[in-house]
Parts: sequence; C-alpha cells; structure tokens
Amino acid sequence: MNAPHTGLRHAPGGGLDVERVRADFPILGLEVNGKPLVYLDNAASSQMPRPVLERWIRYQTTQHSNIHRAVHNLSETATAEYESARKKLAAFVNAAEEREVIFTSGTTDAINLVAHGYGRRFVGAGDEIVLTTLEHHSNIVPWQMVAEEKGARIRVAPVNDRGELDFEAYLKLLGPRTRLVGVGHVSNALGTINPVREMITAAHEKGIPVLVDGAQAAPHMALDMQALDCDFYAFSGHKMFGPTGIGVLYGKAAWLEKMQPYKGGGDMILSVTFEKTVYNVIPGKFEAGTPPIAAAITLGAAADYISGIGMEHIHAHEADLLDYATHQVNRLPCVRIVGTAEKKAAVLSFVVEGVHPHDVGTLLNEEGIAVRTGHHCAQPVMQRFGIPATSRASFAFYNTHAEVDALVAGIRKVQKVLG
Ligand SMILES: Cc1ncc(COP(=O)(O)O)c(C=O)c1O
Repeated sequence: MNAPHTGLRHAPGGGLDVERVRADFPILGLEVNGKPLVYLDNAASSQMPRPVLERWIRYQTTQHSNIHRAVHNLSETATAEYESARKKLAAFVNAAEEREVIFTSGTTDAINLVAHGYGRRFVGAGDEIVLTTLEHHSNIVPWQMVAEEKGARIRVAPVNDRGELDFEAYLKLLGPRTRLVGVGHVSNALGTINPVREMITAAHEKGIPVLVDGAQAAPHMALDMQALDCDFYAFSGHKMFGPTGIGVLYGKAAWLEKMQPYKGGGDMILSVTFEKTVYNVIPGKFEAGTPPIAAAITLGAAADYISGIGMEHIHAHEADLLDYATHQVNRLPCVRIVGTAEKKAAVLSFVVEGVHPHDVGTLLNEEGIAVRTGHHCAQPVMQRFGIPATSRASFAFYNTHAEVDALVAGIRKVQKVLG
C-alpha cells in the first residue's frame, strides 16, 4: 500500500510548499515552444505526480493479472489491490459502504450508467428531469436520450448574470412529475460552485433523487457522500491527478440494487443459462468485463496523494490563486471575466475584446501557456452569456502566482499583436 504523503510537502508554517509539490510532477519541468510550461488547463485534465506514476509502474511490473478469476498469486494480488482501491475511493468520498463505489471509465460513463440504469427504469412518458443551464454536455445528452426514448421532458433551472443558480426558479421546477435532478457540483465553464446540499434537501423533500456531476469538485474540495446525501455522484480520475480511463460512480446502495445493469458480460453475473441470467450483486453488477485494473489501483494512489497534501491546504492555495488571478485579469483593459459567482472554484473564464478565444489560446501557447479555449462542452452556458466561446485558465494546487503573472503578460501580448 502506498503511504500517504505528508509533512515534506508543507512549509514549516503548515501551508503548502508549492515548489516542493511541483517537484513531484515531472511534466511541469517541460519547455513548450522554448518557454517553461505554464499548465493552466487542469479542468480539462490534470497532471500525475511521481508517487502516482510509480504506483502504475509497480502494478504493471509486479502485480498485473486479471482479477476475480484465478487462484494464482498474481490474480489474487491484483484482485486485492483493485478492491483496496475501491476502499480508498469509498473513504475519499466518505461513502457509507464500499459497494456503493462503482468503477467506470469516467464521469461521462458514470452519468450514462445512471441514465440507462435509473432513467430507463424509473422515467416514463410525461415525466420530467431537472437540469441547470450550467451543465456539461455529459450531464445533458444522456438525459436527452432518455427523455426522447421515454417521452419525458428536460426542464432547466436558469442562472443569473454572475453565473449563479436561480434557486427560487429551481424550486419551482420540482414537481410531481420530476423523476431526477442532475446538477454539476462545480461548473467547468465558469467555476460556479452550486448549492448542491440545499438543492438535494429541496429535491428529497419531494422524494426526488439527485445526481451530482462532481468532475470539477473531486480535485478541489473534500467530499462527503453521507453529509451531502446525494443519490449519485460522478467523477473522473484524470481530473484528480490520476490516469485517464477511470472514474467513479458513487450510488446509494438502495438505488444501485434497484437499477438495471448498463453493460452485460463477464463478472457481472452470478449464473448464466440460455434461458436466464442472474445478475451479480453490486458493485459487480455494474462492472462487466475486465475493468481498468491498473487505472483503478493508480486512482487509489491519487486519492492517497491528495489526502496526504490535505484538501484544506489545496483549497486555501487555490482560493488565493483565484483571488490573485481575478484581481490581475480585472486590471487588464478590454478583458472581461465570464462567471463571477460569489462561490467559485479555481476557474477563470474570460474574453478578450475583439480577439477570438481560439487566437488567444494559440498565442498563449506560443508563450508556453496551456489554457482551454472554446465552449468547454457547455454550449448552453455560452448561449446564456451570448458568446460562442471563452478562454479558460483553470488552476491546480501546483500552480503559482508567477504562472498567473505569465498568463497576464501573455494576454497583454495577445492584445498588442491582435487587439
Ligand atoms: C463538469 C464536467 N462534467 C463531466 C465531464 C466529463 O468528464 P470525462 O470526459 O472525464 O468523462 C467534464 C469534463 O470536462 C466536466 O468538466
């Protein structure tokens, strides 16, 4: 088992020693276009620290085999490590039970699992699914598919000009036909932190289950499924310093037990005859075929790494970075920040007057600065603000004030060249 990483990455006063932390991330030492890499695209995908990379290599070089299938040593070790990763992720989100953690290929896969497993079973003609304007396409399209198939309707809770949910409007949408609320914990396009606890309480008062898309929350804030009391929670490994190809669906056991499996195949069954198949119990029922074993175990190491750093330190450092970046970017003429919610995670979306975001991204890249430009797979949000796209800087705990300064200097250069 990987030991959590402690003390060494913290300054004597207790805060984060960012330079020490950066030394864990080999990729941050890269040069891009002759300049030191300034990686500000963490909302799209974050980087992996050495202990997490090493866990992958250790698994592949000393433990790899298929799981749940054989009695030989390697298979038993791989099975134990895979199940130990489940335990770590259950602890990471404070799930009541380990079997409430389903390994998926990512957030998208997790939401599709619920859309098929819950939506197909519990949504009917004339029913309603409530989403918000802020949703990522991953939390829109699967529900549209269900709605189309079942003759149900999508209803959308609006946001104000700061990008904050209109809570009163949300409450009015909850009605006798509402079968599910789907909400992003943190908006990837604007950084808004939604009041999910209050949203869940209001939905539960009417007996409505809630799915939270936690893709942008898992790397930035402590998660507690029992306190949040959501019915489903989805997140991706590659956004929380783990590998691609792995994610988690947390689901309350009572729901998961009632739901239809999304994929059929090996491992998700108790018995098969041509006449009848009996499905496995959870979580196996939802993990058909050979799962991403190495990725799951490595995600367990990522959860250890984050816990070792401490969410409170991550939060404090990122809040400071966001404040600093917001202040610096606000001082630039002809640059507008899109998304100014009072409660925000470390995402800064902006438009530079007269310059297409794609050109902003291209010129920043020449300076070694990686930001995301486009609609961020959240076209309804862009439509709400009447823009086709933004440039987005998204921070992680390994980013620095100097990198914010590089971004600001880069934007000035863009304005000089194209403004
Ligand atoms: C809020 C949100 N939901 C869902 C996703 C989809 O995640 P994945 O592509 O890892 O499935 C993303 C990815 O950017 C996201 O930001």
